[in-house]
Amino acid sequence: MIMNSAAELARDGLEFTSGVERATADVYARVKDVIPEIEWQFFAPYIHAINQLKREKNAIILAHNYMTPEIYHGVADICGDSLALAREAAKADAEIIVQASVHFMAETAKLMNPDKTVLIPDMSAGCSLSESITGADVRLLKEHFPGVPVVTYVNTSAEVKAETDICCTSSNALQVVESLGTDKVLFLPDHYLAANVARQTSVKVLTWRGRCMVHEQFSAKDIREYREANPGVIVLAHPECPPDVLDEADYAGSTAGMIGYVHKAQPAKVVMITECSMSDNVAVELPNVKFIRPCNLCPHMKKITLPKILRSLREMKHEVKIDPQIAPRARLAIERMLALGTPSSGAQWQGGVGTGGKAEIVGAPRELVSA
Ligand code: 13P
Ligand code: SF4
Repeated sequence: MIMNSAAELARDGLEFTSGVERATADVYARVKDVIPEIEWQFFAPYIHAINQLKREKNAIILAHNYMTPEIYHGVADICGDSLALAREAAKADAEIIVQASVHFMAETAKLMNPDKTVLIPDMSAGCSLSESITGADVRLLKEHFPGVPVVTYVNTSAEVKAETDICCTSSNALQVVESLGTDKVLFLPDHYLAANVARQTSVKVLTWRGRCMVHEQFSAKDIREYREANPGVIVLAHPECPPDVLDEADYAGSTAGMIGYVHKAQPAKVVMITECSMSDNVAVELPNVKFIRPCNLCPHMKKITLPKILRSLREMKHEVKIDPQIAPRARLAIERMLALGTPSSGAQWQGGVGTGGKAEIVGAPRELVSA
């Protein structure tokens, strides 16, 4: 074990003992191909302590599919995409929810559980999409486009959700847009997700200039290179990627959609065009599938670590609180989405399908919107 890991364990009063090794042996048997033994000596005491503390405090851990394998397989009670986590948050009966993901997802959990304690292990775990737009921006857009319904991606703050008619996730964006029965929508803030929706619907899609800092990095050229280097590889892409990336993919869907695809098809070789921890998590469950791993990490998701989860539970920090002035309106936008009951496996986002057009960016030039 490296020195600073030993110091961190000591700081938290933990040790890799034979008792810890035995208690976590079943988890290690699952993850040993993606976590080296030397790292396990650091992770195992945390996993053991967190699982004990969860029981003592009646807490559950909701983890996004981008968590690292020691969190995903070691301490999470429920793993999923944004839609599944929103649904599970609504059903949770534990007293404490620890959200192992980013801040907007923790806010969603709190909105669905106003009377429970919702903790996030690192308050600074944000999201480039969520940070691209404010409630004031949405109010300006509504002034500029009166009567046009506002759909916001769940990757937004509660303040932004409070200004919107309905939320959506990458699993149900198309269904949500079409459920409104209008010929035009404001779809905020993800420009690429909006573009991928726009080409599959006859509804006119007005959007903002937000982008996911992980998925915007992928290009169609990358996909062609993966195919050349790995003949026969199946390519799965997230709809936060640019449309020409989806054109090159065999399937596109939410993180849960991609996981479901690999489980069902069990291809010999696959590349998931998304955040890279997901491949490790699925590889654990499907040892016969070879994963080509593009390594684009989400720096926000990676702020959540086992030591921070333990301290979060021990010290009951950091508690997510939402202004009561905005919480009811933000909750309504999520509830309207959940009421549609769309499947969490996700729609397909293949390029060129449908009668749709292009998404038109109306945002980002805030001056233009306010002019
Ligand atoms: P999913 O809802 O597909 O899990 O996406 C969430 C996200 O943040 C992807 O970058
Ligand atoms: Fe936000 Fe992109 Fe990170 Fe998802 S991967 S949390 S969209 S920055």
